Amino acid sequence: MAHSDATLQDKRILLVIAGGIAAYKGLDLIRRLKERGATVRVVMTKGATEFITPLAAGALAGGTVYTELFDREAEQDVGHIRLAREADLIVVAPATADLMAKMAGGHADDLASAILLATRLPVLVAPAMNPAMWVHPATQRNIATLLADGIRLAGPERGEMAESGEAGTGRMSEPLAIVAAVEALLAAGKADSSDNVADAKPLLGKHVLVTAGPTHEPIDPVRYIANRSSGKQGFAIAAAAAAAGARVTLVAGPVGLADPDGVSVRRVETARDMLAAVEIALPADIAIFAAAVADWRPAHEAGSKLKKDGSGIVPPLHVTENPDILATIAHRRDGRPGLVVGFAAETDDVLENAEKKLGRKGADIIVANDVSPANNVMGGAANTVHLVTPEGIESWPQLPKDEVARRLVHWIAGRLKPTA
Ligand SMILES: Cc1cc2nc3c(=O)[nH]c(=O)nc-3n(C[C@H](O)[C@H](O)[C@H](O)COP(=O)(O)O)c2cc1C
Repeated sequence: MAHSDATLQDKRILLVIAGGIAAYKGLDLIRRLKERGATVRVVMTKGATEFITPLAAGALAGGTVYTELFDREAEQDVGHIRLAREADLIVVAPATADLMAKMAGGHADDLASAILLATRLPVLVAPAMNPAMWVHPATQRNIATLLADGIRLAGPERGEMAESGEAGTGRMSEPLAIVAAVEALLAAGKADSSDNVADAKPLLGKHVLVTAGPTHEPIDPVRYIANRSSGKQGFAIAAAAAAAGARVTLVAGPVGLADPDGVSVRRVETARDMLAAVEIALPADIAIFAAAVADWRPAHEAGSKLKKDGSGIVPPLHVTENPDILATIAHRRDGRPGLVVGFAAETDDVLENAEKKLGRKGADIIVANDVSPANNVMGGAANTVHLVTPEGIESWPQLPKDEVARRLVHWIAGRLKPTA
């Protein structure tokens, strides 16, 4: 019977049910989607059939339930490629740790994973698993990959697990919450777009602090030491974090870039100014240090312009070390941001140096980029980055800086520890 509020009238949902205890909630989800006017096609993994029967799912959906990749009848009739296309949205509920690992790895060895690899539709994933499985770095890595690939998440929630006496994050969102996420996704007009990451708000309620650009270290009132950083990457990160729902503070060195929309910008000149502005901006949930801070500054700043007096005597330029903003903040006992991300601009032994920097500076993640002149990173529009974490290195292809920023923000959001 149609629901009075037929918000999903004529929408076609492909529901993938995987093998977890929450599979029974998948049955309720079918009912909830249908009562809002949706047509629901169901695919079940082998694991799912251990928990609920295709007969029950088929009876509720009002059609065949698909379980086999190598199904002669289905291959002639529907087939995994058509299943991957003939819908407005794919919902995976419950999504097991195993199925998400397969999705993140691009596997296609059963019907569900083959469809999820073949599809260009928006995909909404509702994870459900034991809290220990959810917080495991492998699952968190996979989630980060899926988010970077544009997959949308519903839940998981915190609460009592089906297993007796266990509580934590890992409970599947209730079917009505998943329906609300489906409605929001379809209403946002994202159903036929592959660009479904930009509007996700995984950083809603978070304060993100970003630094960007070079610093200028004065020699005298008119001269300074600087570097070629344009600030483009850091500004793009600040914009992407704001688009992801965060409150963003951007501390920027001297650059000729406009303030990104919705970002609170503090303009500074020297490394010492930058550190002070960063400390004022704390506390933050995430700090991303993308600025190319000068390592050294002139030991003495002349009060007036140094003059060439014709004697041929060159004034000595003594330098002294600047504060290390990344290390200072990452090593703070009190008020350390939950996640500290540093950038490493290197011209030699990029990965080796980035790994060393990770430990030495106390950062959680180092984003390494090769800024050799041949790569035209400094000032250029593209970047090739490697994400260095204690668990390993993930290398991304060369991408526009905006795209690096967008992916990085979603990757970082996926690494945030689930909040209590
Ligand atoms: C009783 C039982 C309950 C399980 N519950 C879950 C679960 O809630 N989430 C999960 O990710 N895996 C769970 N598993 C493990 C999955 O069933 C297993 O990884 C399976 O290979 C998943 O297959 P699929 O992802 O193809 O559906 C459970 C296993 C058993 C035996």
